[in-house]
Parts: sequence; C-alpha cells; structure tokens
Amino acid sequence: MLSPWETILSCKTPQAWIDKAVSSLEVLLLDHAHCEKKAATTAISLIHRYPDKNLAKYLSPLAREELLHFEQVLKLIKKEGFHYRNLRSGTYAKELYEASSPDEPNRLKDSLLICALIEARSCERFNSLLDFLPSSLSTFYSKLHEAESRHCDLYLNIYTEIFNEDWHDRLLPLSQVEASLINRSDPLFRFHSGI
Ligand SMILES: [Fe+2]
Ligand SMILES: [Fe+2]
Repeated sequence: MLSPWETILSCKTPQAWIDKAVSSLEVLLLDHAHCEKKAATTAISLIHRYPDKNLAKYLSPLAREELLHFEQVLKLIKKEGFHYRNLRSGTYAKELYEASSPDEPNRLKDSLLICALIEARSCERFNSLLDFLPSSLSTFYSKLHEAESRHCDLYLNIYTEIFNEDWHDRLLPLSQVEASLINRSDPLFRFHSGI
C-alpha cells in the first residue's frame, strides 16, 4: 500500500533539480537546516493561532522532533566541513500559503494540507536523492524520510479529526500549485525549489 506522501503529490522531483542538489551540497544542507527550524516554528505557530483546537497534543511533540532534526543537520554541516549560516529563503512555502483561503475555517484546513504537502515533498526529495548522495548523507536522509512521512500522515489525520470530512477534494488544487512550483524554473536553488 502506498503511503499518503506518495499519493498526495502531483509530480516527481525533476532530474535537473537532483543534479543541481548533488553539486550544491553546502546550500542543500544549509537550507535543509532552515527547513527543519521552519517546520518547528510553523507547528508552534499553529498551536498559538488555534488554542481552541487542542493542537498542542500533536504539534508540540512534532515541533520537538523537528528541532532535533535541526540539531542533527547542524552536526552534519559541521562534519562535512561547512559553516552554518542563514541563506535567503526560497519562495516555495510563501507561494504555497498564498494559495490558501484567507477566511476561517478554510484557512486552517489549507494550512494543515500545505503542511502535509511540504512534509510529503521533503520525503519525496529525500528518496530521490538517496542514490546520488555520498553514503554519509544518504544514511541520514533515509532515517529522516521515515519521520517526515509520519508528519505528513499526522497533518492529514489532524484535518480529519478536527473537521470530520474527507480532505482529498480540498487538497487537489493545492497539490497542483505545489507541482507547478516544483516544475518551474527557479533562479534560487533551495531544498524545495523548482529547477
Ligand atoms: Fe524534520
Ligand atoms: Fe517534518
């Protein structure tokens, strides 16, 4: 049976992005560290924005796990001989959120689905990189893959639990926007960038 992360994405990562990633390991790792940090802050901000939805029981452990990933990527950056620094952010997440509804409760529905899509894309990117990375990185990425797959499931399950409705119809247009960001040419190489 396919995992949700395999079914909710509307396209695969283009080979051109994989080729660029393999020759840009420093930026890949630095931006990956940023993504883990951002995943934690997004979870915390959802807890903060919707105190009535009891999200802390799911998203506080998730935020902790993302921060653990952040620390693990920091160690790897050091081990590979790179220095941690901030990079200009890619526009992927920002543009995805621009496709979400401005009004509640649809805004929360879209936020949960966008989080699931971002987790799914992370999984798909870890997978697509495995055969092309040095073994020091591919072992780490295959471990992270399991966690991010679980996070994708979690966001979809939170949606079902809160709204008691099927998410597939609402997800489809967001998934198509996501795929268009992945397939477009992108001047800035980042973990979730286009080509
Ligand atoms: Fe993570
Ligand atoms: Fe995650």
